[in-house]
Amino acid sequence: MALNKMTVPNEKKRFFTPLLIEWLGALVLFSLLAPSLALPPAQTTPVNSVHKKDPLVLKGKQLYADLRCFYCHKLKGRGGTVGPALDNVGFRRTQEWMAHHFRDPKEVSQGTKMINLKLKDSQVQALVAYMNSLGGYTFTPQAPDLYKANCAACHSLNGESANATDLSKEGKFRDVDFLMDYIRDPANVNSEAKMIKFEGVLTEAQIKDIAAYLYKQSRK
Ligand code: HEC
Ligand code: HEC
Repeated sequence: MALNKMTVPNEKKRFFTPLLIEWLGALVLFSLLAPSLALPPAQTTPVNSVHKKDPLVLKGKQLYADLRCFYCHKLKGRGGTVGPALDNVGFRRTQEWMAHHFRDPKEVSQGTKMINLKLKDSQVQALVAYMNSLGGYTFTPQAPDLYKANCAACHSLNGESANATDLSKEGKFRDVDFLMDYIRDPANVNSEAKMIKFEGVLTEAQIKDIAAYLYKQSRK
């Protein structure tokens, strides 16, 4: 469906075809096997359930398949090896880096074999959201300031004690979903919590941004 969106030279298109057929076969096989491989929910997804919730992530996941990214990249053990495996890419790369790289791979990674897919902005956004959900979250350059303005009065982030808990190790034992829930409304997580709620004070995007920032402090 989407190969025609790729503006690759003809040679490259031919290069793609035989493997593509193998790939489609593998995909069909996988989708037949997938239900029987399904694991019980709960503890099996430690970090996030964002795939289920965020439509932009779902759109990115679909694009990932449609644009045949798996031809060059491995994800969960499946795919090519021309580019790096993407399982933890959300952890390694910032959203800015990824967006720039999708718009113009060669400008960011000189000599890369990754092709410029001439993606629309909406496609770039969806792919970044999907990549961002893999193996972690990235935060925006505003996150440290958001944290300072809203949290630093009570929490330290350098191991020193402040008014409330030091949060520098928070990401070691809390996942991003927990952090987001806590920031939204602590009383929902722990009925005895004294911390104020930020739901309505900060936007969802800002809450996620701060949560990702915190999460990464102990995982750099
Ligand atoms: C023709 C092969 C090819 C295709 C197709 C391709 N990539 Fe890549 N990609 C690469 C190579 C090679 C690199 C490593 C060099 C670089 O940074 O560009 C890379 C790098 C990346 C990175 C950075 C990974 C890291 O850890 O630095 C991301 C993210 C990425 N690709 C996502 C995608 C997505 C999403 C698609 C589909 C829209 C895609 N790629 C299609 C070859 C490809
Ligand atoms: C007015 C002081 C205050 C502010 C401002 C504040 N907190 Fe808290 N926070 C607390 C206190 C006190 C606790 C200890 C548990 C409780 O009473 O909720 C806490 C607990 C937490 C916890 C739970 C720690 C754990 O793992 O049990 C997290 C996460 C957290 N805060 C994050 C934040 C973030 C992020 C912000 C900024 C958006 C923030 N807090 C702003 C006072 C504050």
